[in-house]
Amino acid sequence: MTSETELIPAPTAVEGPTRCGFAFEADTALWGEPGTEGTQRWLRSTLGAALGLPLPQGEEGARNTVALRLDDTLPAEAYRLEVTATWGVVITGGSPAGVFWGAQTLRQLLGPAAFRRAPVRPDMTYGVPGQAIDDAPRFPWRGLMLDVARHFMPKEGVLRYLDLMAAHKLNVFHFHLTDDQGWRVQIERYPKLTEIGSWRARTKFGHRASPLWDDKPHGGYYTQDDIREIVAYAAERHITVVPEIDVPGHSQAAIAAYPELGNTDVIDTNSLSVWDTWGINPNVLAPTDNTLRFYEGVFEELLELFPGEFIHVGGDECPKDQWKQSATAQARIAELGLADEDELQSWFIGHFDKWLSARGRRLVGWDEILEGGLADGAVVSSWRGYEGGVTAARAGHDVVMCPEQHVYLDWRQAPGEDEPVPIAHVRTLEDVYRFEPVPEQLTEAEAGRVLGAQANVWTEVMEDHARVDYQTFPRLAAFAEVAWSALPAPAERDFADFERRMAAHYPRLDALGVAYRPPTGPLPWQRRPGVLGRPKGGPPPNA
Ligand code: ACM
Repeated sequence: MTSETELIPAPTAVEGPTRCGFAFEADTALWGEPGTEGTQRWLRSTLGAALGLPLPQGEEGARNTVALRLDDTLPAEAYRLEVTATWGVVITGGSPAGVFWGAQTLRQLLGPAAFRRAPVRPDMTYGVPGQAIDDAPRFPWRGLMLDVARHFMPKEGVLRYLDLMAAHKLNVFHFHLTDDQGWRVQIERYPKLTEIGSWRARTKFGHRASPLWDDKPHGGYYTQDDIREIVAYAAERHITVVPEIDVPGHSQAAIAAYPELGNTDVIDTNSLSVWDTWGINPNVLAPTDNTLRFYEGVFEELLELFPGEFIHVGGDECPKDQWKQSATAQARIAELGLADEDELQSWFIGHFDKWLSARGRRLVGWDEILEGGLADGAVVSSWRGYEGGVTAARAGHDVVMCPEQHVYLDWRQAPGEDEPVPIAHVRTLEDVYRFEPVPEQLTEAEAGRVLGAQANVWTEVMEDHARVDYQTFPRLAAFAEVAWSALPAPAERDFADFERRMAAHYPRLDALGVAYRPPTGPLPWQRRPGVLGRPKGGPPPNA
């Protein structure tokens, strides 16, 4: 019998382990109440496949069974997991989601072999020590944002990331689908968004100031059926997908496809192609009726594809230079009686805020959307530090905390020469572990506005899944514990205990095939030559 008690994220309470445990056998059955079918499928396809267990259909109240129960007196995502020698395993969830998170804990208790896709020791018996675990998340929004615009991640990789999120009890996938460098979702009424907007001719290698280029075309997109598959796969794992269409900045790929979306009275937008470098792009959407109608069309298709409550409209980093020069934009400012271009941006975002609200959805945007007033239901992703989140919470808005200084996983993990194309400042595993989503200055009522936290993975310098893994892990494990577990204040957090549990977690990640950054630093194949260039506000790379 193998056992693992080093859970990540840490559960609320564990009684035990006792000396008697439960051993899984070929006739160990699986039974669940109506509503738990998804977790039954998940257990058979993961645990069953990894350990060579058929997990036949069981009966309520029988011995030697994994039983999945619902108890609506528990909080929705809470669960209780009990292991006894005679009965087996009982997972009781406050909802089907709670049952699913309990199943994730069961997999961790079974050890690294349970994270494989087929048995490597078919004659081995797997068991779990007798114990009772009570657990519930701290926050309802435990997010990961993946930028598939700067580098496209084919569908298979996205499904894999949903599995990795589920293994860490994360439940919101923020899907950054559009940017200057690529448009990644099929929109049937506007085929050029993907025909033209999803490919770029070449790609800047390294930082934007680097003199190097990767001279091969890069691109790809998800068809609407791919998106339906991703959303369904996420739903089976109790993950909500929040799509982001970034407006009115970060839009050059769309303008390259449909030049009339840009500020045609300022530049020749026909000359624009999908952007091949990084940074903040001056080519933003024109604030015209045509642009509004176009994006209403985009969002109409998006609402059909993404059933979740939240739709992200970006709103970050929209330079106003073209609007200052554009007679069309200035006429709109005058017509609406606005003070300046910042208010024009608010008007633009406000249009979609109302449009989405009227359709029963809630707008989410980066904290720049605060600059000029917001509708009541709008949610703010606080990325430029905590300040936007504090302002938003005080104004009665819900907030997701994702301050770049703490949870931008593209930032480098260590000083020195070895980090591959290092971005910005050092954010170690311990730094992420000591990230606190709720700023001290909020009152209790305001703190209740913090829906949760999110780690953001921007992929300018991550051209494949191995690079994404390297930047994301192990730090996502620390982030997951921050978002799920009831940790003390940052200075009091027991990082040594987290590291002790990580020693049990790395073999799970190995079994899953995650190319994480080892605690001792990058492996030779993970090292990349540093490239010239100075990142935004940070030291030169390799400094
Ligand atoms: C952002 O990092 N521009 C949201």
